[in-house]
Amino acid sequence: MAEENPLLRRAYSLDGDPDKTRDVYADWAESYDRDTANEFGYVAPGLAASELAELVSFDGVVLDAGCGTGLAGEELHRRGLMTIDGIDLSAEMLDVAAKKSVYRTLSVADMTQRLGFADNTYDGVICVGTFTSGHVGPDAIDELLRITKPGAPVVVTVHEKVWDKDGYLNHLRKLERQGLMRVREIKDSPYHEKAGYRCQLCILEAA
Ligand SMILES: C[S@@+](CC[C@H](N)C(=O)[O-])C[C@H]1O[C@@H](n2cnc3c(N)ncnc32)[C@H](O)[C@@H]1O
Repeated sequence: MAEENPLLRRAYSLDGDPDKTRDVYADWAESYDRDTANEFGYVAPGLAASELAELVSFDGVVLDAGCGTGLAGEELHRRGLMTIDGIDLSAEMLDVAAKKSVYRTLSVADMTQRLGFADNTYDGVICVGTFTSGHVGPDAIDELLRITKPGAPVVVTVHEKVWDKDGYLNHLRKLERQGLMRVREIKDSPYHEKAGYRCQLCILEAA
């Protein structure tokens, strides 16, 4: 069972304190890809990347927010997207991502703060595995929309543990009412296949 993995247990017990988050992912960076593939059956990066790749042309410039070790970046690259930037809170996770040679730039950033990108920068944004317990909450979606070009897609996974608890659907409906985006689709999707976890795969369109 995936949650017997001590690092996943630590990750799910986080409380949003950025220092604790950095500590967990510094410890996890080296074994993260092995653990998620072998123990958890982590399918969310591939599923989310397929959705984004359907909506962005091959020459589009894409941001992978909370990119970690680069699993979603690899999936996007495999589907023909060649200009991908990545941001993450953990420098150690980014070091692993850099070795994959699929990112144009990689930088440390905190998604709970204003991001250092101008409005309407990206042709698409993806965020996988980061809207989860004690990581990043629904407010961070606002920043992803701000930096996405009008009409361009933002694809995010939201773990089933936090979807209702943290009020994601209400937040998305509020953003729609404010005219900041439109929900194209929300799909109940597999996440960690071996552990049976699911997520809401949200396909949004920036306004
Ligand atoms: C479960 S991992 C997912 C990584 C990658 N997207 C994937 O699907 O494998 C969660 C990632 O969120 C990052 N993270 C947590 N809080 C963050 C924050 N406030 N700002 C940016 N990244 C954050 C962590 O450092 C970690 O790399």
